[in-house]
Amino acid sequence: MTTSPLTTLEFRKALGQFSTGVTVVTVEREPGKIQGMTANSFTSVSLDPLLILVCVDQHAKILPLLQKKKRFGVSVLKAGQQAVSEYFARGVHSAEAEERLSIRYSRTASGLPALEDTLLQLSCSTVAAHPAGDHTIFVAEVHDAEIHEGEPLLYFRGEYRSIARHR
Ligand SMILES: Cc1cc2nc3c(=O)[nH]c(=O)nc-3n(C[C@H](O)[C@H](O)[C@H](O)COP(=O)(O)O)c2cc1C
Repeated sequence: MTTSPLTTLEFRKALGQFSTGVTVVTVEREPGKIQGMTANSFTSVSLDPLLILVCVDQHAKILPLLQKKKRFGVSVLKAGQQAVSEYFARGVHSAEAEERLSIRYSRTASGLPALEDTLLQLSCSTVAAHPAGDHTIFVAEVHDAEIHEGEPLLYFRGEYRSIARHR
């Protein structure tokens, strides 16, 4: 058994044992211009009120936008959308790359930016932002959800996986 203190690498490896889905958080940085970031720290928080959270690196380009706009979309990726996850993990966006990857933006019922052709699209507005180490935890209220058919993209031990049904 490994004992504390863990190195950063050991911590990453340990936490990689916890499998997650993959989301893309989207903010409108100026009219019609969307900034997105891949995030698997997304979690459901509360039913009353309806709250989720997402943890964002202090150095992420999207952080000041989230702090300023206080409204964002969350899209849950489908199986087969690894390239979309990798694209939004690079932080640098281009119309050509988005065209090549068939990335299209849509609007949620509340008018927030989201990704078309994903499993779920949520409209969120920040109710609290807690600095936590090298990340900020954004706690946000969910205003509407658009749910679609399909299977999720999973992330486990630093790799993408797909779901298997138990019989
Ligand atoms: C599967 C996956 C999950 C990620 N989850 C998060 C996350 O929850 N929070 C975060 O800040 N960065 C996360 N990242 C890293 C960011 O997507 C990436 O560092 C960021 O988009 C880089 O863009 P920047 O140039 O804006 O910093 C994740 C990356 C991947 C591939």
